[in-house]
Amino acid sequence: MFDFYLEVKKLEINGFRNLNNFSINFGDKKNLIFGDNGSGKTSVIEALFLLGFGKSFLPVNKKELVNFKASGFFVKAEVLNKSGENTLTARFEKSFYMQANSEKAVFSQTSHYLYPLFFSSSNYNYYIDYMAYFRKLMDRFIHGVHSLYLHDVLRYNSILKQKNYLLKNLGKSINNSELNSWNTVLAESGCKIVKKRMAFINQLNDMIGEIFRFDLKINYFPALLTTASLSENSIFNDLCLLKKTEINSKRSLLGPQRDRFDIMVSGKKLQLFSSGEKKKYLMMIFAAYIELFRQERNDHPVFLIDDYDAAMDEKNLNFLMDHFSKIQVIATSVAKNEKFGHLFELKKEN
Ligand SMILES: Nc1ncnc2c1ncn2[C@@H]1O[C@H](COP(=O)(O)OP(=O)(O)O)[C@@H](O)[C@H]1O
Ligand SMILES: [Mg+2]
Repeated sequence: MFDFYLEVKKLEINGFRNLNNFSINFGDKKNLIFGDNGSGKTSVIEALFLLGFGKSFLPVNKKELVNFKASGFFVKAEVLNKSGENTLTARFEKSFYMQANSEKAVFSQTSHYLYPLFFSSSNYNYYIDYMAYFRKLMDRFIHGVHSLYLHDVLRYNSILKQKNYLLKNLGKSINNSELNSWNTVLAESGCKIVKKRMAFINQLNDMIGEIFRFDLKINYFPALLTTASLSENSIFNDLCLLKKTEINSKRSLLGPQRDRFDIMVSGKKLQLFSSGEKKKYLMMIFAAYIELFRQERNDHPVFLIDDYDAAMDEKNLNFLMDHFSKIQVIATSVAKNEKFGHLFELKKEN
């Protein structure tokens, strides 16, 4: 079978964080953007992430991404994938919007052209220390291979928000049948998410085993009272059992928003390992995901690695180089490294 490789050929940025009139032509394999702290390396990665997901990986709103001296920003990429060459644009002019080939486009359309896989080598601990962060990563992973998944998550979140609003504001005076009807739709929507998460984690674990023949796996624990015979009904019953407690604590206490994932290495939690080991095992999970992505979509993500060499020994670095040899990698570092085929130096303006 012929393999397609997603490739970002060109990126243009204006008025985005510290980058103005910035343009870069990437190579199809390993690219390294190097430069001093504050030169804008993370901003380049952030621009690509924004094009892929319509949002920032930084805890900021879109307006804060606009350059201090500008009134709006513009980020544009020429992307080559199996559907040919396409142009993706993200703009902020009073409000934020995106375009695919000059037509206004929503996220489900743009993500069809560009799927960035993002790894921050200096912040990777977040994936291990903060469950919400890892849950989001798993959701982005599943979204990459099942296009309708994000729709399920967004629907679930909007229902949950409304139920929480009622719990918070009405408390004990909440109408029982109203709460039941919210729980009915939550159970229906939540069940889809839990089933997809279960199936995906199984697939990912199988792939890790197949590629690395190593005892590394993710254990998934849905936040439910009963998971033995999972169904919309079983989730609804769980929610009924918790009704009083939820009313008393004025918020929802059960469902995918509270699911847990444990990363296990030889039966031990990843939290117990050294920082270099943690990074290596996370990288293995990313490598397995890339292979899963290839099988599901007959395409590849573009791999963005911010501060790629932070806290990595030579052996881990070589592992990284070997394992991601086929796909387009866009990495950043403060140091130049000739192992990368395409090198770009960023200079701090001032
Ligand atoms: N809205 C903004 N306008 C102008 N500069 C910004 C904005 N947001 C962040 N910056 C600055 O942009 C610079 C580049 O940041 P960053 O891309 O994180 O650098 P690097 O990753 O190379 O260390 C930093 O000095 C940061 O303070
Ligand atoms: Mg940075």
